[in-house]
Amino acid sequence: MIRPRLMQTETSSGDSQKPLGNLEEWEDFLKERYPEPFKATDPEKRPEQFRNYEANARPTVREFYRLNHRHQTYDFVQGKKKDFLALSRRRMGIWEAMEYLNTLVDDSDPDTDLSQLEHLLQTAEQIRKDGHPQWFILTGLIHDLGKILCLFGESQWAVVGDTFPVGCAWSKSIVFHQFFAENADRDVTRYQTPTGVYSEGCGLDNVHLSWGHDEYLYHVTKDYLPMEALYMIRYHSFYPAHREGEYQHLMNDQDRKMFQWVRAFNPYDLYTKSHEKPSVEKLRPFYQDLIAEYFPDKLNW
Ligand SMILES: [Fe+2]
Repeated sequence: MIRPRLMQTETSSGDSQKPLGNLEEWEDFLKERYPEPFKATDPEKRPEQFRNYEANARPTVREFYRLNHRHQTYDFVQGKKKDFLALSRRRMGIWEAMEYLNTLVDDSDPDTDLSQLEHLLQTAEQIRKDGHPQWFILTGLIHDLGKILCLFGESQWAVVGDTFPVGCAWSKSIVFHQFFAENADRDVTRYQTPTGVYSEGCGLDNVHLSWGHDEYLYHVTKDYLPMEALYMIRYHSFYPAHREGEYQHLMNDQDRKMFQWVRAFNPYDLYTKSHEKPSVEKLRPFYQDLIAEYFPDKLNW
């Protein structure tokens, strides 16, 4: 029997696939919440500040988080993993995937006129300038390639957004926490304890995070990169853990050790976007060599 494909647009409820004008609106909001320079903030003030960011957020960003928090349930994540992690959609090399991502033209951001490919190069170039190892530079280059999920027809709220564990209680420090009131997991008692379906110290590899571009790219690249790089890719949007220090009880020693790399990567992810256009043609040979050092010609996507 041929079953109709589930529509990603939830037309029946009137929900939009694209509440954001473009994906950068989410990242702009992150920068407002975590302004440079990186400052330790008074923990007492944090909840209050969070509420201010929420109050001042653009309506599109607010709607984006509402949809994300409403729909990212434990079952939703299992479904997406089953669907996407078979990696049966395409065979592409890394540079090819970068060019493919570059066809994502949802960009109407007045703050930036850089393409997705230029954004990736900019991040990698900043890491290179700071003298980091080759694998770190390569990670900067590819870390957002999972955003090609948008080109497979996925909704913005299932591609980007701060990630958080599903199947256990939502940390109070997750932005727009109030929108979890609309999440069906609220009514599942076993999902509402601090450890939920997991166990203390079980390690993040055993924890399901909300679905998005991080987890997807991790699975595409997991056989080819060092563990540090894979942590950066898999957890770079896990702000409740790497910036808020939450979910320690689910981590094991390896997670705690590796999260120093996730934190080291975060400034490059957040703050390297500028108007200065990198030259794709000039940089291309260097990066194609770097890609060839680590990856085969084609990967499964
Ligand atoms: Fe990202």
